[in-house]
Amino acid sequence: MKAITVEPKKPGTVRFEDIPEPDVREGSVLVEAIAAAVCGTDVEIAEGKYGWAPPGKTRLVMGHESLGRVIDPGASSSLQKGDLVAGIVRRPDPVPCPNCAVGEWDMCRNGQYTERGIKEIHGFMSERWRIEPEYAIKVDPSMGILGVLLEPTTVIVKAFEQVLAVGQRAFWEPKTLLVTGAGPIGLLAAAVARLFGMEVHVLARNKTGPKPELVRALGATYHSGSVLDIGFEPDVIVECTGVGAVIADSIQQIGAGGVVCLTGVGSGGIAPRATADIAAAAVLKNNVVVGSVNANRRHWYKANERLGRLDRKWLSRLITRYEKPENFKEALEKKPDDIKVVIQFGEV
Ligand code: BGC
Repeated sequence: MKAITVEPKKPGTVRFEDIPEPDVREGSVLVEAIAAAVCGTDVEIAEGKYGWAPPGKTRLVMGHESLGRVIDPGASSSLQKGDLVAGIVRRPDPVPCPNCAVGEWDMCRNGQYTERGIKEIHGFMSERWRIEPEYAIKVDPSMGILGVLLEPTTVIVKAFEQVLAVGQRAFWEPKTLLVTGAGPIGLLAAAVARLFGMEVHVLARNKTGPKPELVRALGATYHSGSVLDIGFEPDVIVECTGVGAVIADSIQQIGAGGVVCLTGVGSGGIAPRATADIAAAAVLKNNVVVGSVNANRRHWYKANERLGRLDRKWLSRLITRYEKPENFKEALEKKPDDIKVVIQFGEV
């Protein structure tokens, strides 16, 4: 079968090539790929900045945002042939650490977790893939190709859980949310928060194009300047850019008692303020800055429910480009008006 593979940490090594059929040890459920979406992590892996091949191998099958159709559910599975499924990304570490031991692999403490298409286990950008039944999430068939947006939604659901958990430390009824960044994660965060009636603001660089319109279509407000100029102090900021200056400004602008949740993975840059100044702002307003990554089964369950409640037409506008697997180079290249690029392996 064909797969999109890479030699991790070596830029320019992505190939669409023949590889053996998926190993039965990867799971008893056999799935034919329908789609795999591209995210910033995939681009980083392609650029040689991130990623790990399975032990003893030099190449990794890419892809962690999946949608496929079960072709063989295997003996012990509750799945049926024809079911649409997406695959959970992370697997618990083998020790296991206390969090992995209780199914909170998203909170793994020793870093020995593995992730499909990212860290030591093959991903979903292959014509067929296998999965353990307990890590296959059934997707409502009426979602069609939009089911490929489930994984990024799980990341959001986890982030909101973190914000609400932190908020329990005092009387707190958050009403206003600022999302920084209008990529798929930012836009899905805005959409999910609107489901719960929050007043939502999204800040991003684009002044024109589909992003401002997508935000307005949610009944949310779009800003394109600095976080410091939004004109109010949000109760919650979900930071989805990973840009140092935006992070520092977010900690400055958050309201008293508010929570800044960091979901973007960036590097480098020059912060506009010294660390102690940023910290002082947080101290004097009792702020919490919480990092959030990945998602466990509970988040996948909730994300399925949230995604199903979002407007399908609006969701379909998030997918701005479909590419064939052989055009992986174009798929992994960021173009100005891209929101979510989907590599389509088959029809829904
Ligand atoms: C994925 C997460 C993963 C993280 C770090 C993100 O792109 O959505 O599942 O934990 O990268 O590898």
